[in-house]
Amino acid sequence: MSFKHAIFEKNPLILLVGILIMVAIGGLVEIAPLFYLESTIEKVKGMRPYTPLELAGRNIYIREGCYNCHSQMIRSTRDEVERYGHYSLAAESMYDHPFQWGSKRTGPDLARVGNKYSDEWHREHMTTPRTIVPESVMPGYPFLAENDLKFTHISAELKANFMVGVPYSEDQIKYAETDLKAQLDEDSDDFDAFEERYPTAQVRDFDGNPDKISELDALIAYMQMLGTLVDFSLYNEKENNR
Ligand code: HEC
Repeated sequence: MSFKHAIFEKNPLILLVGILIMVAIGGLVEIAPLFYLESTIEKVKGMRPYTPLELAGRNIYIREGCYNCHSQMIRSTRDEVERYGHYSLAAESMYDHPFQWGSKRTGPDLARVGNKYSDEWHREHMTTPRTIVPESVMPGYPFLAENDLKFTHISAELKANFMVGVPYSEDQIKYAETDLKAQLDEDSDDFDAFEERYPTAQVRDFDGNPDKISELDALIAYMQMLGTLVDFSLYNEKENNR
């Protein structure tokens, strides 16, 4: 035994190869099962795929590079949990392609910004951030309210998400365009069908201008649903009773 071991101790290269083999085996044993175990992402109640309008808003969020200053991942440290709410669960971003995790923040984390402010607050803040927070370094995006939202390709967007694992139904893909419009108008003919497909979605005209489907409509719809799907009072209760 001691003789065989000496080969490794006397030859750094052989030692290196030995280490690489050991690490590779360890890595495979740890990582490979994650790809096929169903429990890798613990399921939580309430998660649903984005509505077409929210997905369109998410695309604008990515297009404008909001992620350069904002993460969507609350860490489990006490300061973060006290400031932003329950730490983020893996399941909360399971329909995100690409995900918005990150550790670089210039502005606050947005994982739970939904329902924190009114639509009016968002409209004002997105247009001219400094009228609301005088010391803000966030740029204004006044053009979002003026730009018409381009959504003729929204069915294809849903389909692309479906192909990477988001469980959109055939109808959700087929009627994406009418669903997008129906989320903005409770009185539209397509509203009932929309509500059946997305029962927990928030419905209203988000940009305050019912005559126009603007990019701001989509972005605020997205902001207002972030972090609102999972009911964390269930989880917090458990923790408080410990
Ligand atoms: C240059 C960095 C920067 C960029 C880019 C940026 N933000 Fe911000 N954002 C900030 C800062 C700093 C704050 C905190 C001060 C404030 O509220 O304006 C903030 C605050 C916010 C808030 C309020 C968060 C809260 O909990 O109070 C929202 C919502 C928001 N940003 C959304 C966006 C969106 C959407 C985009 C992209 C269209 C964006 N931001 C782009 C820096 C940025």
